[in-house]
Order: sequence, then structure tokens, then C-alpha cells
Amino acid sequence: MRRVVCRTFGPVDRLEVDTVADPHPQPGEVVVAVRAAGVSFVDALLVEGLYQLKPPLPFTPGGEVAGEVIELGDEVDNISVGERVVVSCGIGGFVERLAAPATLARRLPARLSFAQGASLVQSYATALFALTRRATVHPNDWVLVLGAGGGVGLAMVDVARHLGARVVAAASSAEKLAAASALGARAVVNYESEDVKQRVREISGGGVHVVVDPVGGSYTDAALRALRGFGQYLIVGFAAGTIPSLRANLVLLGNRSAVGVDWGAWSVQNPEENRALVDEVLALAGSGALHPSEPAIFPLERAGEALAALRERRLTGKVVLQP
Ligand SMILES: NC(=O)c1ccc[n+]([C@@H]2O[C@H](COP(=O)([O-])OP(=O)(O)OC[C@H]3O[C@@H](n4cnc5c(N)ncnc54)[C@H](OP(=O)(O)O)[C@@H]3O)[C@@H](O)[C@H]2O)c1
Repeated sequence: MRRVVCRTFGPVDRLEVDTVADPHPQPGEVVVAVRAAGVSFVDALLVEGLYQLKPPLPFTPGGEVAGEVIELGDEVDNISVGERVVVSCGIGGFVERLAAPATLARRLPARLSFAQGASLVQSYATALFALTRRATVHPNDWVLVLGAGGGVGLAMVDVARHLGARVVAAASSAEKLAAASALGARAVVNYESEDVKQRVREISGGGVHVVVDPVGGSYTDAALRALRGFGQYLIVGFAAGTIPSLRANLVLLGNRSAVGVDWGAWSVQNPEENRALVDEVLALAGSGALHPSEPAIFPLERAGEALAALRERRLTGKVVLQP
């Protein structure tokens, strides 16, 4: 089978594709014929050697896939050959065939395409975790989402709308803002060309109840100033590449809260609770309550290009590789 391989940490265009033997399942494992492999910001950081964890080299990136089960190892009784599944594998997903513990495979609802399934879990589990486990969002609350045209950002818009909140989407281009509007954002702000503090305060009648920040950098200060008293500032990620400093006086004034969101570590430390969270995401998307967008599709050979497009802010929403 073909796989993408990272031999040295560095620029994403150094990724290679080679051919290795097909995997066979160990006891407790399934083999999945991968129909789509989700590409995420974390994959790019791993390849560049900039993530907090560094896998031993060489390694195959790819944190989540969707496909069909084609082989079962001994002692697997929760899943059958032919079933459509999603697997959150962490790394190793940019392959034609993936062997993984059967406990990681969750059924993909019929309503969702393989591409939607492969790009769903990381972004939507982060969003559901952030907005229901780390923050409290009430119907009609105003929620400001930064990076709202990105993978995590669009999922935040969708989940916040599902919870009954009114979403203000902030992003850098008309295309990204249109994608957020299509998922139900009530208002949009271009944070490259508009005064975020002033516009968001106007739109929300004095400030939002929750800010979701997966971007960081220079956007954070204005977003914190757009938060109303007793509001919650959710720190989700630093896609802009700079970890911002939150001004402590702005957190004190108005009794605001700064809230860390680390779904990745939590999911590893709490596998049972995470399985319930992921099943909730799949059930909500499968019933039509959530509306994950169809991602852009690249062939497996162009993994480096897909990751470069993400790193350079050229993509709206998610992207998957199709082996
Ligand atoms: N805390 C957690 O548990 C958790 C879970 C998953 C992901 N994350 C983190 O969340 C962040 C977003 O992930 P994602 O999957 O949504 O990524 P993504 O799809 O690439 O979206 C990131 C967005 O950030 C904005 N951005 C601003 N400056 C940027 C820059 N210099 N380079 C790249 N993007 C920039 C872009 O929107 P504009 O062009 O509109 O500014 C882009 O759409 C990442 O830092 C990721 O590591 C955290």
C-alpha cells in the first residue's frame, strides 16, 4: 500500500510517498480501507517538529480517517467487515490501509460522506468540549468565534448555533466569513480590516458572553475587550503562531474568566468520557442537528500541498486526502 512518510522534521513539502506491505490486524485490531484522511493544523505542526510531542522518525502523519472495515483481528466483536467507520488514530492516517485498535473505530452515520467523517472528530469534539464542558453557553448568548472559517472555527460556529447562541464570526476573508454565515453565524467581522472591539460591541449590544480563540497572536487583545462582564474567554489554540499575553487587568475588570481548552490531552487522559463525547458528535451530525461542511479533497500524493495551504491560510474549512 502507499503511505505518506515524514523522514525529517521540517517544511511540509518534504513529505514523501512510498509503498510498504499491507498491514494485518493484531488481536483486538481492525484494518480499515481508508477512503478519506483528515488533514489538520496539528499534522502540519507535527511534520515541522513544532508540536509539543515529537514522534520517532520516520513517521506517517494523519490524526483521523474514515473508511470501510476490511479485516478483523481475533477478539473483535464490536464491529463487522464492511462497516463504515471513523478512526481517531493520532498519527499514521495518511495511508491506504490502517490497522488500529477496534475500540478506536466508531460507526460513521449514513448521512455523512467519508470526507465529512474524516474531518469531523477533531474539530467538532474540540468545539463540543469547549462549549459544553469548559464553558456554559445559554440560548441567545452572543459568542464571538475567531478564525471562524478554519476547521475548528467552523465547528465552533455550528455547535454554538446548535446550542441556541447568536454567533459573531471573525475571519480574514469574504470567503471564510461566507462559510461561517452559511453555518448560521448571525453577523460577521473581517478582523483584518475592521475594528473588532467596536464592531462586536455594536453587534452584541455591549459585548459578547463568550469568545472562542483558536488563533491568538494580535487578534486576542481586541477580542478580550469585546467580552462583556462575567464573560468567558476560551483559549483554544495559536494558529497565528504567537502565544498572546492576556492583560490581567482586562480579566479582572468586569469579572471576566479566561478558560483553557485542551481537548487533545483530556481525550487521552479520559478515554471513556471522550468516547461518549465523540459518540455525541456523531449522533448530532448523523441526525442533522450539526452540519459539517464538505471538505476540500486532495490526492494522497499531494499531502504536502494540502498542509502548506492550511499553513498559509489559503483554505476555508477542512481538507482531506483521498488515497
Ligand atoms: N485546544 C485543543 O484541544 C485544540 C484542538 C484542535 C485544534 N487546536 C488548535 O486550534 C488551532 C486552529 O486549528 P484548525 O484546525 O482550525 O486550523 P485551520 O483550519 O488552519 O484554521 C486556523 C485559522 O486560523 C487563522 N489564522 C490566522 N493567522 C494564521 C496563520 N498565521 N497561519 C494559519 N492560520 C492563521 C486562519 O483564518 P483567517 O485567515 O481567517 O485568519 C485559519 O483559518 C490550531 O492552533 C490547532 O493546533 C486546538
